[in-house]
Amino acid sequence: MFGVARELRKRGVLGLNERNAELIMSLNPRRLYPRVDDKVLTKELALAAGMAVPDLYGVIANQGDIRGFAEIVETLESFVVKPAQGSGGDGIVVITGRSKRKRDAFRMASGLLVSTEELEYHLSNIVGGQYSLSGNRDKAIIEYCVQFDPVFADVSYQGVPDVRVIVYRGYPVMAMVRLPTRASDGKANLHQGAVGAGVDMCEGRTLEGVRENLVVDEHPDTGALIEGLSIPAWDTILESSARGYEVTGLGYLGVDMVIDRVRGPLILEMNARPGLSIQIANQTGLKDRLRLVDREFDAEADPAARAAFARQAFPAA
Ligand SMILES: Nc1ncnc2c1ncn2[C@@H]1O[C@H](COP(=O)(O)OP(=O)(O)O)[C@@H](O)[C@H]1O
Ligand SMILES: [Mg+2]
Repeated sequence: MFGVARELRKRGVLGLNERNAELIMSLNPRRLYPRVDDKVLTKELALAAGMAVPDLYGVIANQGDIRGFAEIVETLESFVVKPAQGSGGDGIVVITGRSKRKRDAFRMASGLLVSTEELEYHLSNIVGGQYSLSGNRDKAIIEYCVQFDPVFADVSYQGVPDVRVIVYRGYPVMAMVRLPTRASDGKANLHQGAVGAGVDMCEGRTLEGVRENLVVDEHPDTGALIEGLSIPAWDTILESSARGYEVTGLGYLGVDMVIDRVRGPLILEMNARPGLSIQIANQTGLKDRLRLVDREFDAEADPAARAAFARQAFPAA
């Protein structure tokens, strides 16, 4: 294991100030933010564009709606509760089953039980804005709990891995797979303790993993090798993420997808200010890739053509 951040500085790494000043300011007009900062709206837009998303079971829009929670989940064995305006995995509860003895107690990804009253209290906090980006009141989403593809079984601990793709001016430029760990409690966000693995854009295959700035070749909980996994439906993932550009209008975009074992790739959410640690996971910087897109940019290219470009232009270093 070794620290990769210092090494990377030499390799065209994009810094926070450059990201904010050169990319987000010029490519992401503020008026478009609501499209990605509210997961209910993102879902509607994605569906309208013909993209697959996890089914929405219900929305708790205010404190009064919480009374309807038990009815929404009455027939469900698994589901996910999340703040519509959350980020970084905060406030997300992944319910994977029910207690065998008490039907109104739910099992979380970690295996711990949570009662209906506790979930209602959590919903009240979400609606009150405890997890919202703006600090304002929020809505809670109750949605389908993704059943992840078996390819990831050995490298996930009690949660669903996701694929994050950075899309620049409509072109996918870099990707990582985030693998949940014991610490991340059913979520694949890096700051919750998940492992990030870079991806060879050409083959759709995982590279080494990185966790908190250190290279890891094995999953910390399962011991399975992280490198060399073939991501299923890679073409679809690239093309759907490229389509995120048409859907949002954002020129610098992070698209989060999950791969359901039955439904295939689903869009989870999109981000207007995607983090930069994807460069650490890939042990390579973004700058050269952005420049290449600037040189080759074709305003006529459709999402499939832009996905095909990514496949040939960005093999692993
Ligand atoms: N419907 C779902 N089914 C299973 N896991 C989910 C679901 N939604 C979110 N998760 C887990 O939580 C993580 C964060 O979810 P996401 O919707 O991207 O919210 P955030 O904005 O907080 O990152 C995902 O990467 C995944 O691991
Ligand atoms: Mg996310």
